[in-house]
Amino acid sequence: MLRLTSPKMALDGKIAVVTGAAVGIGEAIARTLLQNSATVVLLDVNDAAGKAVVEDVTKQYGEDKALFLRCNVESEEQIKAAFQKTVDTFGGIDILCNNAGILNESEWEKTVSVNLLGVVRGTYVALQHMNKLTGGRGGVVVNTASMAGLGPLVSCPVYTATKHGVVGFTRAMAAASAVSGYGVRCNAICPHFVQTDLITNIKSKLGQFSHLDDATNQMMENTGLLTVSEVAESVLELVMDETKNGDVLMILKQGKQYITFPSMQ
Ligand SMILES: NC(=O)c1ccc[n+]([C@@H]2O[C@H](COP(=O)([O-])OP(=O)(O)OC[C@H]3O[C@@H](n4cnc5c(N)ncnc54)[C@H](O)[C@@H]3O)[C@@H](O)[C@H]2O)c1
Repeated sequence: MLRLTSPKMALDGKIAVVTGAAVGIGEAIARTLLQNSATVVLLDVNDAAGKAVVEDVTKQYGEDKALFLRCNVESEEQIKAAFQKTVDTFGGIDILCNNAGILNESEWEKTVSVNLLGVVRGTYVALQHMNKLTGGRGGVVVNTASMAGLGPLVSCPVYTATKHGVVGFTRAMAAASAVSGYGVRCNAICPHFVQTDLITNIKSKLGQFSHLDDATNQMMENTGLLTVSEVAESVLELVMDETKNGDVLMILKQGKQYITFPSMQ
């Protein structure tokens, strides 16, 4: 995993919140932020896995560097409670990674609620603590979108819609924050397929589009699978680089690239 050791770049003293942090990409983001000296609060609905990660990283980084809190991003109440607990325990929030997500074309309303509304809920509650205009110390939000946020994943129309939504929300929120002077940057990552539970047994998650699983598996074979560490390194880049706001970083097995969008002016 990438570890930036320059004192200027280190995240020493920074408090990060990561949603969907018990396994997969979220766990890798949490571990990468810890490696770079941040304190990390891991939120997830999977208590057992989340607590196991915290137990493990505590052995490595010591007490009071990581905390697990059960939090369902479908619940504004639970997000508010978790963020308040973070502020009460560590004194603020500097980094939010809205990463929790599901792929389930059968339960498509839930997919919208977790993948898109969860990002909006998380960002708005975090702003209450991070916004420089209301006493926060500013910071950065990094949202986990997907390649399905830039183009269609044919077997997953609703997943595609949620991830396009995350990209659009991130860019508009970044502009709103910059114009308003909130001092909070917002960026998104768009990884291609990543080796995690999300894509395991994908046919069972495609609902009425399960007949398209061969095409989806073929895509995975053609593009190759990213590792969670490769994705987490890109999140770290967007956290560290203070010039990035409203930026969308596409991550492919062959490399990564910032996306240029048409101008709205
Ligand atoms: N795996 C891929 O190919 C891939 C590619 C691009 C983007 N993504 C995105 O990356 C993110 C992480 O996915 P992953 O691949 O690590 O999947 P994963 O299934 O391995 O992990 C997802 C985590 O989110 C948690 N979670 C699910 N619903 C939640 C909720 N309502 N509240 C809180 N936590 C919840 C799960 O318990 C789990 O720990 C998702 O947003 C996903 O859409 C994944």
